[in-house]
Amino acid sequence: MNPATTNGAIPEPVVLDALALTSDPELEVRFAESSHRILADLVGGGAALGWVAPPSRDEVAELLGHVISAARAGDAALRAAYLGGRLVGLGYWLRYVRPTHRPHADLEKIAVDAAVHGCGVGRALTTALIADAREAGIEVLTLDARGDNTGALRLYRSLGFTEYGRLPGFVAVGELRYDKVLCMLDLRQQD
Ligand SMILES: CC(C)(COP(=O)(O)OP(=O)(O)OC[C@H]1O[C@@H](n2cnc3c(N)ncnc32)[C@H](O)[C@@H]1OP(=O)(O)O)[C@@H](O)C(=O)NCCC(=O)NCCS
Repeated sequence: MNPATTNGAIPEPVVLDALALTSDPELEVRFAESSHRILADLVGGGAALGWVAPPSRDEVAELLGHVISAARAGDAALRAAYLGGRLVGLGYWLRYVRPTHRPHADLEKIAVDAAVHGCGVGRALTTALIADAREAGIEVLTLDARGDNTGALRLYRSLGFTEYGRLPGFVAVGELRYDKVLCMLDLRQQD
């Protein structure tokens, strides 16, 4: 898909709170199917999203169901990005489960259809999720990224995340080992 309009301009992505999609069961099923397509294609192409092999439809549906339930309870935010009416990206954070970590949340997946990489979708999704975290009173938003995921790390740094640690050779993909880079955004120190 080429997202450019006839005058060559790239349209702005529309980023929705995915809870809005769950008021209609048909929309929710379509969202889960499109999310599966995006995630499975990215992982099939080697993207660092935590899976070694593309996740199944059921696995993605179960994951989204879990995040949506948590979002209803105020313990998560799930965002969906559209370009030209088509789902092109998604991302979410989840509040930590451990009682002593409850004020904080982890940004777990930002995934953008490879066909529209570089069009501002990842930035729009991450910006919206940070705003959601601030709105929900989250104190520290954490994330981790594979050390070779320079594009994602550049995006996170540009939005204020700082690296607080690194586990050398921790991420295992077959025989390959990559650093796990730990990042944080302290929302207590922001306006
Ligand atoms: C990482 C990812 C979410 C970025 O999404 P995107 O829509 O392509 O990113 P954007 O167009 O919004 O770009 C935002 C910033 O990311 C950085 N960036 C994105 N892709 C990059 C690349 N290939 N090389 C260098 N920087 C890159 C740039 O800093 C860019 O800022 P700029 O617009 O000022 O140049 C997307 O590439 C993706 O889905 N990757 C596969 C899944 C993944 O790795 N997710 C992150 C897991 S931690």
